[in-house]
Amino acid sequence: MKLGRLNHIGVATPDLDASIAFYRDVMGASDITEPFVLESQQVRVCFVNTPGEVNASGATAGTQIELLQPTAADSAVGKWLEKNPLGGQHHICYEVPDIHVAKAEFEAMGKRVLGEPRIGAHGTLIIFVHPKDMGGMLTEIMETPKGAH
Ligand code: CO
Repeated sequence: MKLGRLNHIGVATPDLDASIAFYRDVMGASDITEPFVLESQQVRVCFVNTPGEVNASGATAGTQIELLQPTAADSAVGKWLEKNPLGGQHHICYEVPDIHVAKAEFEAMGKRVLGEPRIGAHGTLIIFVHPKDMGGMLTEIMETPKGAH
């Protein structure tokens, strides 16, 4: 495993609109994406873009805050919020060049990968690795979007 860019920090919230207002009004975020529903993870999600350096192709690559509001109480994020009613840091996400290679490497190290690679909120393949094998942090691994950075 070769550690890639810190793509985003996943933050669960019981109220997405209130969290958007918080990042805009308290934290001064000026670039927040429109919320959308990600059915596969039963969440309503949007991204707070933090400033990043402009790369060669003119795009910025700042780390994001991924705001997640569950759309069902019995979903993974819904159950997490039941134990953490204020919300807060839910997972952390690193990029890798190839998700299948990363999955095989984690498994070879005895880490529990949760499910098969699937399309995440950025439209690229992701996996999650069990927090008990990752120093207490639910860890998302995501394939770097083609043409990004
Ligand atoms: Co995420």
